[in-house]
Amino acid sequence: MNVDKDSIILGIESSCDDTSAAILINGVVHSNVTANQSIHEKYGGVVPELASRAHQENIVPVVSAALKEAKVSVEDLTSIAFTRGPGLLGSLLVGTSFAKSLSLSLGIPLIEVHHMKAHIHAHFIKEKKEDNPAPNFPFICLTVSGGHTQIVWVEEPLKMKVIGTTIDDAVGEAFDKAGKIMGLGYPAGPIIDQLSKDGDSNKFNFTYPNAGELNYSFSGLKTQFLNFIRKNEQINKHFCKENLNDICASYQSHLVSYLLKNLEKSIKNYSCKDLALAGGVSANSHLRKEFEKLGKSLGCKTFVPKISYCTDNAAMIAMSGKFMEEKGCFADLSTSASARIPMD
Ligand code: KG4
Ligand code: ZN
Repeated sequence: MNVDKDSIILGIESSCDDTSAAILINGVVHSNVTANQSIHEKYGGVVPELASRAHQENIVPVVSAALKEAKVSVEDLTSIAFTRGPGLLGSLLVGTSFAKSLSLSLGIPLIEVHHMKAHIHAHFIKEKKEDNPAPNFPFICLTVSGGHTQIVWVEEPLKMKVIGTTIDDAVGEAFDKAGKIMGLGYPAGPIIDQLSKDGDSNKFNFTYPNAGELNYSFSGLKTQFLNFIRKNEQINKHFCKENLNDICASYQSHLVSYLLKNLEKSIKNYSCKDLALAGGVSANSHLRKEFEKLGKSLGCKTFVPKISYCTDNAAMIAMSGKFMEEKGCFADLSTSASARIPMD
């Protein structure tokens, strides 16, 4: 491999409970390896201490597997991009320390990546040189994950402005918490998605919290859901079990229409031709369908990443790193992980 001409970026993601490494060669992804942490399932949510410990165990094998799959040796790397935040501090520290040590030992540049920007950059990941899946600038991106819910005005690859956000919990938490109440596994988002397929989305109704402007509030919706289940189980203790598919379909449909209500408003305030969806919750089949319908009705082109690039992955971190590399945005070795980093 010609290291003078090629850009070979190792991406490292460890912000929550997925340890991931990817190799991006001249903007094309050659490997994207992720180790999920099943340890959290029995607790119904991510346990930060267990997550950082699992990252410690997984990081070396995951990076080795990504290099092997891409047929690249560690000496071929031209830079290392890692998630600096936002996320769980103990988890971020593992990826950050690993990236810093490797950069020091190889004498190659380090690139610090913002996890939420990287979710948006997932749209620009190419699997083949000729792929061109990306939205045109400027565009609006609805970024929905386990930790964030944001409507982002994306002017340029590195110029983004949050125009709507949750004032409390994220929509992913609203899925996961409802799953916990119903006794489903963790993360509950994909389970609710699956169960909803055989349910009636009009069977039960919920209300929309008003968080003002283009903002969201999911904390009240979680409580609304808990009270709804409690109230009905007082009348019939098998209520949840007997109505599981309809409850999931109704709740999921409500969350999706709440998300899209504000997105539609934002398009009226900020005019653009392209609309994008990003983050773990964008793997939701109902959201993907309704998002495309909304785009069509507004005359906008819609962009949804492949499922493997929606949930946390290192290919998006390497992609973000590529944008930063092009602008000469490198970090020095004094950089440290941060649980909270503003987007703009
Ligand atoms: O982006 P992500 O992988 O991690 C964070 O940065 O948070 O998002 C994880 C979230 C979890 O809350 C999970 O339940 C949700 O994404 N999720 C889904 C689906 N797949 C993952 N939610 C709804 N439907 C899905 N199919
Ligand atoms: Zn994420």
